[in-house]
Amino acid sequence: MSVVVKASHVYKVFGKRPNEVIKRLEEGADRKDLTKLGTAAVIDASFEVEEGEIFVVMGLSGSGKSTLIRTLNGLWDTSGGSVEVLGTDISTADSSTLRKVRGKHVSMVFQHFALLPHRTVRENAAYSLEIQGMPKNQRLEKAEEWLKAVGLDGWGDKYPQQLSGGMQQRVGLARALAAETDILLMDEAFSALDPLIRREMQEQLVELQSKLNKTIIFITHDLNEAMFLGDRIAVMRDGRIVQIGTSEEILTQPADDYIAEFVQDVDRTRVLTAASIMRETKATISIEAGPRLAMRTLEDSNSSGLLVLDDNRTVLGMVSDRNVVRAAREGQQTIADIVEKTDLFTVRPETPISELFAPSSAAKVPLTVIDENQRLLGIVPRVALLNSMADPGPATGEIPPVQEASEPVVVSPSAAESDSEDGAAFTDEQATPTEVADASADVESAAGSADEGTGAATRGATDAERGKH
Ligand SMILES: Nc1ncnc2c1ncn2[C@@H]1O[C@H](COP(=O)(O)OP(=O)(O)OP(=O)(O)O)[C@@H](O)[C@H]1O
Ligand SMILES: [Mg+2]
Repeated sequence: MSVVVKASHVYKVFGKRPNEVIKRLEEGADRKDLTKLGTAAVIDASFEVEEGEIFVVMGLSGSGKSTLIRTLNGLWDTSGGSVEVLGTDISTADSSTLRKVRGKHVSMVFQHFALLPHRTVRENAAYSLEIQGMPKNQRLEKAEEWLKAVGLDGWGDKYPQQLSGGMQQRVGLARALAAETDILLMDEAFSALDPLIRREMQEQLVELQSKLNKTIIFITHDLNEAMFLGDRIAVMRDGRIVQIGTSEEILTQPADDYIAEFVQDVDRTRVLTAASIMRETKATISIEAGPRLAMRTLEDSNSSGLLVLDDNRTVLGMVSDRNVVRAAREGQQTIADIVEKTDLFTVRPETPISELFAPSSAAKVPLTVIDENQRLLGIVPRVALLNSMADPGPATGEIPPVQEASEPVVVSPSAAESDSEDGAAFTDEQATPTEVADASADVESAAGSADEGTGAATRGATDAERGKH
């Protein structure tokens, strides 16, 4: 990975005496007290953007986002600090170098796409190539390709006003893409679109980005958009970058109260992934094991079911306590015959938790998180899913056979925020493993009661849950 944009201690001050403002700011002055000297729009901003990254700059209106992004292609000189684009320091570059950087390396998409009304869609898309001096036929051909890439195949002969807002924004995007620069700067590029089309554009941008491996710096004041698009997000406040991190870092470890408040309303289900809420489980057993070992593992893991794995930790299915006990009683040598697959639902670590609710509510056992080789990474008990939300919502009635029980912990409303390793809210469900422990102490007599015990414990937990709502 190479760094394509590097901003070091960038200041941008509008007004008569930028140097004095910077000096005073460095001495600790508040920018509010310096307004007579100038407006400090960007204060001491440092960050690096890597090749192929979508780097989002987010912040409230007036926080300095547009000013910052304009220093990255030299539309604004910096008042202090430096900006390097692909190794060229553009803060000291002459105008011909700047032109070259803009023509070859950096293009920009604006909120109001500024299409030329009397030119066709194709000509509009070709505009950046025209500026680069590309011959007409060649540029129109190229424009057509990029129109296709953004889903506007067949619209080239129309005029902008014949297109919807979303389509016009696609033309703006095609125009920026046609320049084939390594870096795309997008300033509130989707903000004028209505929510559904906006979502579609966000998805398309992510898809295009993964195909083209562009480096994208994307400005938005919409947190959900920032979280959806950004590999990393820089949050600006009053001209300063107050935190840089992944969506998850910003959501789960906000740098200060301002950011914590800011992210309060974000749709967590779209940001957090299975990986961020999954838990380890010791409730696993090799397919080659016998029922007695399975029973001991059930005890050790305080669990009422085990995930069955092969030598590569590939998930083959699960065995339930009652079947293990029965197999032991019947003298079976392996657990191979009692492996169940039906209730197992596997997900990938990068699956957003919004997509886990439906399978989780249908499944009797926690979701199983697997890697691309089907190997076990962890499990997502439903309670973890509910805990990940600000508001846990109604109880669901999952039977929790495959999970590790933790030390009993008092369930508090803040359990969702606390970073507790394992489910602080699992206490309700711990009756089940005890039944299993009893069962293994006396296989003969306990086999039947383990069956009943599981059911009873589950009903108990469910009723207790219901009681709360
Ligand atoms: N050309 C300018 N001359 C003077 N002040 C400016 C200029 N451009 C921006 N500012 C000031 O700099 C600060 C940051 O503005 P900027 O446009 O960068 O904010 P922004 O985060 O992009 O806001 P928005 O979300 O509204 O677009 C504001 O206080 C603004 O008034
Ligand atoms: Mg702006």
